Amino acid sequence: MQFTFRNALAPIALPDGSTLEGGSTIVLMLAGANRDPRVFVDPDTFDIHRDNARRHLAFGFGVHHCLGAALARMEAEVAWRHLLQRFPDVAAWRTAGPARQNAGRMIHGLRSLPVVLA
Ligand code: HEM
Repeated sequence: MQFTFRNALAPIALPDGSTLEGGSTIVLMLAGANRDPRVFVDPDTFDIHRDNARRHLAFGFGVHHCLGAALARMEAEVAWRHLLQRFPDVAAWRTAGPARQNAGRMIHGLRSLPVVLA
């Protein structure tokens, strides 16, 4: 999820000294926060082993933190484990056609990516 929204029910003082008017809607760029150079060193490098990797906001934060996060993590773990057990030679994997981008703005990513698994 690239972004989410929040509606301010009352005026909110922001850390930079400005005030968010009551009734206004703000867009929170979760994907941008995940690449914040003030939080993550070398933020454009995919590195799940960085010390503070858990500070990502891919599943949101606070009271609306994703209810399905544990299920999503479990699904990913099962899928990757079986894929890697069956096709362990990752260096031999090859793309077999053009990647098709997802058209949506909120859910970014690929709709399909043909791959030949050796
Ligand atoms: C990789 C997969 C997933 C990602 C990246 C993801 C991401 C997110 C994010 C960022 C939020 C917070 C939205 C906000 O703060 O406005 C959220 C909320 C939520 N997610 Fe997920 N999600 C995933 C999978 C799932 C699954 C599998 C389920 C259910 C089976 C699920 C159910 C929910 C629900 C019900 C909420 C709303 C929680 C609330 O508002 O209190 N999500 N998700």
